[in-house]
Order: sequence, then structure tokens, then C-alpha cells
Amino acid sequence: MDQNGTSRGKVCVTGASGFLASWLVKRLLLSGYFVIGTVRDPGDAKKVEHLWRLEGAKERLKLMKADLMEEGSFDEAIMGCQGVFHTASPVAGTAQDPMGEIVEPAVQGTLNVLRSCKKNPSLRRVVLTSSSSTVRIREDIDPRVPLDESSWSSAELCERFQVWYGLSKILAEKAAWDFCKENNIDLVTVLPAFLIGPSLPPILCSTASDVLGLFKGETKKFEFHGRMGYVHIDDVAGCHILVYEHEAAYGRYLCSSTVIDNNELASFLASRYPSYPIPKGFKELERPYYEFNTAKIESLGFKFKPLEDMFDDCVASLIQQGHL
Ligand SMILES: NC(=O)c1ccc[n+]([C@@H]2O[C@H](COP(=O)([O-])OP(=O)(O)OC[C@H]3O[C@@H](n4cnc5c(N)ncnc54)[C@H](OP(=O)(O)O)[C@@H]3O)[C@@H](O)[C@H]2O)c1
Repeated sequence: MDQNGTSRGKVCVTGASGFLASWLVKRLLLSGYFVIGTVRDPGDAKKVEHLWRLEGAKERLKLMKADLMEEGSFDEAIMGCQGVFHTASPVAGTAQDPMGEIVEPAVQGTLNVLRSCKKNPSLRRVVLTSSSSTVRIREDIDPRVPLDESSWSSAELCERFQVWYGLSKILAEKAAWDFCKENNIDLVTVLPAFLIGPSLPPILCSTASDVLGLFKGETKKFEFHGRMGYVHIDDVAGCHILVYEHEAAYGRYLCSSTVIDNNELASFLASRYPSYPIPKGFKELERPYYEFNTAKIESLGFKFKPLEDMFDDCVASLIQQGHL
């Protein structure tokens, strides 16, 4: 046991009240870690109440205020932590000022967090939540060769089609790699596909509310998604912890269970959950076919949950929270 009352050590999770981060905090507390979670406003009960209800939270969770756009904001939270899980990043499809609201906070925020990491002599490893959108947005995909971690999306294509979120994740991950190489920081990145599963926050994040829309018959959001990888939120949290703990983990890790066209997804959902008005189908998009090769994370012993588990758990949570 150390002075924090844990033998697992102390880790920081940025954006702790978010959809993914809340689940990660839950898993870290269950594993015995002392967790420093950063949020923009620790006093905002609506955003943080669910975290205080987690097992182990009263003894081993501390919430601290930090904002991606404030220089030095993460210094105090990160100091003394062995691990930093940087998940905070704007997740929004549209914005009035996409560069200022999505791209800059993602990139500058990542560098801000990493500058705090550099000042911390206790730091062992940083795990950055990137996205599979940093891999699959490109025009030159060979449909016979599944995409793996060696693939980078085209920033130029993202700008041309105004995929600001994708652009923000590409630029943030690249900036992180450059900074960590220059400053000798041990960085591992996780590249999740679209997260599906229960939401701990009662207010749904943008992707979870898109999924809710699907169960209410809305077509707009998923029409744009076309073909997409899906992954259980618990697998994404588990993957973050695995690559943090596994000495031999290095580089980028794609984290995706099933890649499927939105039309196939709609028929899967319609037959599994017949009482909901799932859209009958979506307009076909002219997008390249792709698969993901997730052999790298599987070589560390990781196994993904199937589509059935993701959506069963997601639907149960939407019902339990009164959204459905
Ligand atoms: N959802 C997916 O399908 C998916 C897929 C791949 C990767 N990811 C990645 O997973 C991570 C978490 O996303 P999520 O799905 O859990 O969405 P989310 O619930 O919206 O989480 C995003 C978090 O970032 C925080 N944040 C945004 N701007 C900030 C700022 N200026 N300063 C401090 N914190 C800020 C948000 O805080 P507030 O609550 O205060 O706004 C929130 O906690 C992101 O890095 C995202 O790119 C998500």
C-alpha cells in the first residue's frame, strides 16, 4: 500500500465525466487505482454525481478542475501520477467555428496536457484516446487489405469534406507523437471505433444520443456514417488499461469489434429489437469499402465483445435511464 491507500498507484483521467472517461474511471477504481479525474467544473452535480456513486470513489477518487484551453491547467492534477489517460476532446459534428471549437481545443489541449506530463517526474506512461477516424478517412483504400495502425487518414480530405472531428483527432494524435518523441515521454494511443454501450452520465454525449435517435427512427445522423466500426464501451476502457499496464505495449492500437454498413446495422437492430421504429435503411454513400485489422491488440490477449452485447447493454441502459 502507498500513501494513497492503493498498491496500483495513482493515475489521472482527463475529461472524467465524459461517456468513455466515466466508464474508464469505473474500471480503474474497480482495479484498485487511485484516480484523479479532471473536469471543467467539479461543482456541477449534474455532470459528476454519477462518478461519486462508483464503487471505491469515496476512498480513491479526487476530482480537479482543468480546461483544455488553459495553459498549465492540468499541472496539479497530473503531478505525482504514474499514468495519464488523456480522453478529453471535443466530440461534436458541427460548430459555428469548427477550428476554434473543435480542432484547436483538441490539439492545443493535448499539448497542454503533455506539457504537464513532462513536468511530472513520477510519470510512467501516457495513454491517449485517439480515434479510428485517424485511420479510415482516405481515398486510396484497397478493399482487399484491412486497415491497421500503419494507416493515417488524410487531413486534406477531412478539410475538403469538413470532417472537423476527424481532422481534430488526426492533428491531435500527430502532435502528441511529435511532442512525446522530442521529450522522451512513453506514449501509447488507443484508436476506438464508434462506442456502443451503457452511459454512466445521465446526460447523453453526442454519439450516444445519435444511437438513441436510431431507436426513435431518425435517419440523418447514421446516414452520414455509412460503413463504420463498432466497439463495446467496456472493451475500450479495458483496452486503455491493458495498454497502460502491459510493459510491451507500444505505438497505436486500433480498438474495434465489428465493421458494418449502416444498412446492415439497421436490419440487425430491426430484427433484434422489433418493438422500436429502427430506420428501414439509409441512402447508399459512395465511400470505399474497408475492414479493420485488430491483430495488434489481440496479440496482447484482448478479445472483443460482439455487436449483440454492445446493443443489448446499450438498450438496457437507455431504458433504465428513461431515454427509451
Ligand atoms: N464516442 C465515440 O464513439 C468515440 C469514438 C472514438 C474515440 N472517441 C474519443 O473518446 C474520447 C471521449 O469521448 P466521448 O465519446 O466520451 O465524448 P464526451 O462524453 O463528449 O467526452 C468528451 C470529454 O471531453 C471534455 N472536454 C471537451 N472540451 C473540453 C475542454 N475545453 N476542456 C476540458 N474538457 C473538455 C468534455 O467535458 P465536458 O463534459 O465538460 O464538455 C467531456 O468530458 C474523445 O477523445 C473522443 O474523441 C469517442
